[in-house]
Amino acid sequence: MATRRNSTAARAADAAAVQRQPAEQAHAQELAALQDSDQGPRPEGWRLSPRAVRRFILGGPGPQGDDGLAVARKIHGNDALVERAIVTLAGQRGLMLVGEPGTAKSLLSELLAAAISGDSKLTVQGGAGVVEEQIRYGWNYALLLRDGPGPESLVPGPLHRAMSEGRLLRFEEITRCATEVQDCLVPVLSERLLQIPELKHEQPWLLARPGFNVIATANLRDRGVNEMSSALKRRFNFETMRPLESVQAQAALIAEEAGRALARQRIGTTVAPEVLTLLATAFHELRSGQVGDIAVERPGTVLSTAEAIDVVLNAASQCWYFGEARLRPAHLAHHLLGTVIKDDDEDRRRFAEYLRVVARQRASSADWLDFVDGGRAAH
Ligand SMILES: Nc1ncnc2c1ncn2[C@@H]1O[C@H](COP(=O)(O)OP(=O)(O)OP(=O)(O)O)[C@@H](O)[C@H]1O
Ligand SMILES: [Mg+2]
Repeated sequence: MATRRNSTAARAADAAAVQRQPAEQAHAQELAALQDSDQGPRPEGWRLSPRAVRRFILGGPGPQGDDGLAVARKIHGNDALVERAIVTLAGQRGLMLVGEPGTAKSLLSELLAAAISGDSKLTVQGGAGVVEEQIRYGWNYALLLRDGPGPESLVPGPLHRAMSEGRLLRFEEITRCATEVQDCLVPVLSERLLQIPELKHEQPWLLARPGFNVIATANLRDRGVNEMSSALKRRFNFETMRPLESVQAQAALIAEEAGRALARQRIGTTVAPEVLTLLATAFHELRSGQVGDIAVERPGTVLSTAEAIDVVLNAASQCWYFGEARLRPAHLAHHLLGTVIKDDDEDRRRFAEYLRVVARQRASSADWLDFVDGGRAAH
């Protein structure tokens, strides 16, 4: 008995010992509690009602007021968009999330799939080398040679599985695939049917079960959505994810996300909220090209919340492993260069110019001067 309990505990520890859990595992308790308390109408094939899905993603009280269930907000801003996205998925059109890098397109798509289908892993990662077989289905060539094409030799791809299991298919960075490859979704989205012409002696098609739909994401800095065929575009509802505008909201998001990641990695560096507000301000000013009423040149690199979180994680981990208890603005400036500005000479010049303006404007702030010193020392 003791051995069995030990091995169950060991299995649980094993399951936790991964670098990152998919959303359905990371939030398993919340999802189970929502499922238990969910009274709302549910589209066929969905694990949760649209109301419960919204609550899972945006947090907040239940439909009858506070029911004592603590559900954390996972996507900040974009509330109306989240609701529209859920409605789209309950209908016959696919959902296309577009936007600048680091605006939580992938995160939202993962959370939607976890809440609606209980599985966010039926995913195609778009890329120039992706071929249709990796999306639809392929063949086990040993069985194919021995028995010919049949259900046993067919190896279902993510699309086949999503259709036969009635789940959501996630298609990440869809515009990085060739247009012809993307277009394999056209008949699937309009007729909800996948042709399998090789199955001559069996039923040569697959009909989608209720609950199937597609969430695609596309990054506006990559090859444009213009390269999608108009036939495919018409089969998606488009939603544009935007970065958070207010510096305070950005700082709060950075604090929450970085705090969670640092706790996971057991890094105990002290990160003061003022320091994060300073970083969010610097990101905002570099992105907008404006320090107060002085214009500065904007770096060409991506300066999203995701990059700001990475800067904090790298800086805090340097402090932790190299013996400093507190994260200072100088550490952030140092890592901002390595993580975000990188090796682009023009961007390095623009950042140096930004530091010059900040040093002039905020000479009375010890924190900002520390930030400037850190940035200059790293150049
Ligand atoms: N509005 C937001 N709400 C919650 N988290 C956010 C938000 N914006 C950014 N993030 C953070 O940024 C991280 C990166 O987001 P994600 O990878 O989903 O972006 P993306 O839009 O898919 O970017 P890319 O186009 O580069 O693939 C998220 O995991 C989250 O920590
Ligand atoms: Mg993404």
